[in-house]
Amino acid sequence: MAEHTWYYVCLLLLTSCCGLLGRTRAVHVGEATLVYQWATLDYDWPSDAMRQSAIDEGRYIPENIIATGIKVHGQVVYLTTPRWRDGNPASLSAVVETSDGRTVLRPFPSWEMNQLGNCSALQSVQSMEVDPLGRMWIADVGGSCAPKLIIYDIETDDVVRTYTFPTDVANTNTTYLNDIVIDTSADDPEDWFAYISNSRSPGGLVVYDYRRDSSHKVFDASMSVEPDATLMTINGRNYTFDVANDGIALSPLGDNMKVYYCALSGYHLYSVPTSVIKQPVVTDISSSVTHEGRKVSQSDGLVVSREGNLYFAALHLNAVYRWDTTSSQDASYAHELVSDDVTMRWADTLAFDDDGYLWFIANRLHMWRANELTFTGSEQNFVVWKVHVGEKSYMHKSGAKSVRANLMLCLVTFLYVAFREI
Ligand SMILES: *[C@@H]1O[C@H](CO)[C@@H](O)[C@H](O)[C@H]1NC(C)=O
Ligand SMILES: *[C@@H]1O[C@H](CO)[C@@H](O)[C@H](O)[C@H]1NC(C)=O
Ligand SMILES: *[C@@H]1O[C@H](CO)[C@@H](O)[C@H](O)[C@H]1NC(C)=O
Repeated sequence: MAEHTWYYVCLLLLTSCCGLLGRTRAVHVGEATLVYQWATLDYDWPSDAMRQSAIDEGRYIPENIIATGIKVHGQVVYLTTPRWRDGNPASLSAVVETSDGRTVLRPFPSWEMNQLGNCSALQSVQSMEVDPLGRMWIADVGGSCAPKLIIYDIETDDVVRTYTFPTDVANTNTTYLNDIVIDTSADDPEDWFAYISNSRSPGGLVVYDYRRDSSHKVFDASMSVEPDATLMTINGRNYTFDVANDGIALSPLGDNMKVYYCALSGYHLYSVPTSVIKQPVVTDISSSVTHEGRKVSQSDGLVVSREGNLYFAALHLNAVYRWDTTSSQDASYAHELVSDDVTMRWADTLAFDDDGYLWFIANRLHMWRANELTFTGSEQNFVVWKVHVGEKSYMHKSGAKSVRANLMLCLVTFLYVAFREI
């Protein structure tokens, strides 16, 4: 190759390096896009007759169903509908469009896998997460069956693993498996972990170790309800919640990773290093817990992007907020990303797709629980939003790494050119 070609190659690399470096900190926030909205949730029934008999037999009671969890994989949006009330035919679904243009829930992976009372099937799912290998980690709260974790390969349609929690780690009296994150920091997927929040008082964390196929629990007082934070005032009305550790988020891949968490009935955000909670024998972790600041409001789900921004719903403001975890300012300095007093009530969980969008579902949970919702069709109770933030999931390999790789390549090219000159 001619000498000048190397100079051009290098120039090109340098330009792309600088471009990447500049882009890692820039945040572009587009308009929020309303993707789906429903007055009540309906399913992709095999036939109208089956839908009707489900209604007649009380197996499908539309007003009793609320969607809480959301994740996006490829072009498919997955929603959870925990079985909090009767008449809920499936607890995990993909959103699909019917031939007559309605958007409905198609039980995922199947109707069979959502069979109530069958302990091999999903009983009540509030949260799930999809890892970079396309496997969905589904936290099943249980019910008449014990809580379990099912790992399901979306591409091959296979149950990869079913893990039933031992009673001393999680049982339906002590544990509500609320939200899940996956620690994909190890190069070997056998060494991955899941961290699940337990929102049942006094709260806690459940840690699942994939290689050992074992679990253990972690507790600290910071995971409990804050006594002066049980009251929530939303749109001028008072609601009381007694819910412990709920929102959970994992910092981007890298060194010194940590899990962020907060009680639903609480204002304070905390974190603990993953290196501490991964240990099967965890005694007192209080000295490892960091107070990350007092949020502007109580919040439900949390998520951190690959770029290090933590997103949370400010429930009493009908808003989603963003806090830069890499800044020197604590979480009380978070800024509003989007808000709407009608269509963004109770942003429950958040997720990223691969196109730079932050997704969330606003489900009016406080009103649903208080039986204040209108189901006649005049009100859209459950709304799925996406906002372009130009960021990716915490499980994505860091952009910083590709910047480093490019810089290395530049250096090598420079050295090569320099030595050829001699
Ligand atoms: C229970 O669910 C599993 C998984 O979907 C299924 O294979 C099995 O046939 C079900 N058992 C009964 C008795 O329906
Ligand atoms: C939960 O509590 C009930 C009532 O005290 C008890 O009968 C049941 O065995 C408990 N279940 C577990 C899994 O500990
Ligand atoms: C809500 O609770 C606060 C604190 O107890 C009270 O001051 C306020 O009047 C209540 N608002 C309503 C609408 O009930």
